Amino acid sequence: MSKPIIPKLPLTLTLLASLVLLGACSDGARDTHPDKLLTKRLAIFKQFTKTLEPMGLVARDRKDYVKAEFVENANALKELSTQPWVYFSAEGNYPPTRAKPEVWSQPDAFKKATNTYLATVDQLVAVAGSADKPVISAAVEAVQKSCKSCHDQFRSDRS
Ligand code: HEC
Repeated sequence: MSKPIIPKLPLTLTLLASLVLLGACSDGARDTHPDKLLTKRLAIFKQFTKTLEPMGLVARDRKDYVKAEFVENANALKELSTQPWVYFSAEGNYPPTRAKPEVWSQPDAFKKATNTYLATVDQLVAVAGSADKPVISAAVEAVQKSCKSCHDQFRSDRS
C-alpha cells in the first residue's frame, strides 16, 4: 500500500527544502540582524494577510460563509495577532524595514494602534460563529480598517 508513497517522498521533501531556501534568499538574505527580527515579523504579517483574505471575501459576498471555516480563520488571526510586536524591539529598526521611525520614537502610539487592532480581532472572534452576515462583515471591515490605520501611521509607502 505504501509503495507508491515511498519513492515520491524524497522528491517532495527536496522540493520543499528548495522552496524554503528560495524564500530565505529573497527575504532573509537582506536581513543582516543575527536574530532576523525583520524577517520574522514580516513572515507573521504575511500570515495576517493570508488568514484575513478568505474572511474578506465572505464579508464582500464573494465567498460562502461556512461557519467552521470562518471561526477557524478568525481564531487563527487572533493567534497570530499578538505575535509580530515583540520583533519591533529596540534593535529591530534596521534596513530594509518599511516601519517608520515613529514605531520606535512613539512607542505609546504604536502600542495604542496595536491594542486598537487587537480589540477589533477580539470582536471578530466574538461574532465569527454567529452566522449574522451584516455583523460579521462589519467586524471584518473593522479589522481591515485597523490594519490600514496602523499602516498609514507607521508604515512607509516605499517597498
Ligand atoms: C499596530 C500596527 C500594525 C497593524 C495593526 C498591522 N500592521 Fe501590518 N505592518 C506594520 C508595520 C510597521 C509594517 C512594516 C514592517 C517592517 O517593514 O519592518 C507592516 C507590514 C505589513 C506587511 C508587509 C509584509 C512584507 O512582506 O513586506 C503586510 C502584508 C501587513 N503588514 C499586513 C497587515 C495586515 C493584513 C494587518 C491586519 C490584519 C496588519 N498588517 C496590521 C504595522 C501594522
